[in-house]
Amino acid sequence: MGMKTPAGENGSIPRHISIIMDGNGRWAQRRGLPRSAGHKAGAETFRRIARYCKDLGVEYLTVYAFSTENWKRPAEEVGTIMGLLEKYLLDSIAEMEEDRIRLRFFGDLSALSPRLQELIARTAEIAGRLPGCFQANVCLNYGGRDEIVRAARALAESGEEWSEENFERHLDSAGIPDPELIIRPGGEYRVSNFLLWQSAYAEYVFSPKLWPDFQTEDIDDAIARYRTRDRRFGGVQT
Ligand code: IPE
Ligand code: IPE
Ligand code: MG
Repeated sequence: MGMKTPAGENGSIPRHISIIMDGNGRWAQRRGLPRSAGHKAGAETFRRIARYCKDLGVEYLTVYAFSTENWKRPAEEVGTIMGLLEKYLLDSIAEMEEDRIRLRFFGDLSALSPRLQELIARTAEIAGRLPGCFQANVCLNYGGRDEIVRAARALAESGEEWSEENFERHLDSAGIPDPELIIRPGGEYRVSNFLLWQSAYAEYVFSPKLWPDFQTEDIDDAIARYRTRDRRFGGVQT
């Protein structure tokens, strides 16, 4: 520390990595399987990648699991995703403490079923006993625009002065540093309403690989690409 990072390099591992977990449906369709099989495989990939990020020393991993727009999908597909989520929550409640993984949820959770909301509340209780541990933020019924509107409303109601600092304290991500690196597998080059505020100076890495095919090596590769970026933040390279 205190040493200047060489030009064009970004020292160490990012503190915060975010991932748009895309491509589950196409992964399944290519195998002649129902889309639900892709979501199941994608959930397994998430577990694997979360553990890997934790082992690398990443502090925060934020993943996009279900957007405010994903309700447009057929009820059966939404049901499958919510079912997988319930299973993930039950497993997490049993394993979080042993795994030392703090789980948190971003998004408007009030639209989720009472059962899911209850399980999420239980994970929040456990997370409270794991200060300083690796934290996984799962975005559910999450939209960047929705988050901004909710934060704006809360700020207005608080009567606090309007500033970026005060506004950020009302975002779902309050208290968490912005992601340095956002990875989008699945071959699309768009943001799809993810972390609109927090991504102001994030470095993006896009991958053609579908999320269920994503490997720990693909995380290494994304970090390597991130490290080659010249992050200027509006300034000039000195
Ligand atoms: C991402 O995979 C998971 C969710 C959006 C819930 P998709 O289901 O979007 O997969 P593709 O993009 O259709 O392949
Ligand atoms: C973004 O993927 C949302 C999640 C990964 C949860 P989508 O598949 O919903 O995004 P679009 O429709 O391709 O933009
Ligand atoms: Mg998609």
